Amino acid sequence: MSRLLLSTISVMLLALLFSCSKTLTANADSLYVPTAADVTANATLADLQAGRSLFVANCGKCHSYYAPDSYSAASWRNILPNMASRAGLSAAETTLVTKYVTRGQ
Ligand code: HEC
Repeated sequence: MSRLLLSTISVMLLALLFSCSKTLTANADSLYVPTAADVTANATLADLQAGRSLFVANCGKCHSYYAPDSYSAASWRNILPNMASRAGLSAAETTLVTKYVTRGQ
């Protein structure tokens, strides 16, 4: 592999690391646990709880957990399809995770 290619890859990896470092959260316990107060017209308490379980089980494998409040609902809707497919989630599971991270929006 050429030096130029190697340094290009290093710079890209650094940029990736840097861009991801600010919103990561350390452990699952710090992620909000849904209560009746979080229920909306779009999300029942059971939806939110199932979404949290799926998030905890699937979204901290490759990187630490990104806290739900780190992104707006609109940003989550842009990010999640890509991440859900990386995590191998079904459409129904993706919907539940979306409800959890957007707090039922
Ligand atoms: C197979 C590995 C893998 C899994 C599983 C995974 N991610 Fe990621 N995620 C990545 C990588 C790699 C990045 C770095 C940015 C990129 O490549 O888009 C990332 C980046 C992110 C980001 C930052 C995106 C941005 O634009 O700032 C968020 C938020 C995120 N993941 C959330 C999730 C959620 C939620 C799940 C569970 C549904 C999840 N990830 C599952 C690999 C994964």
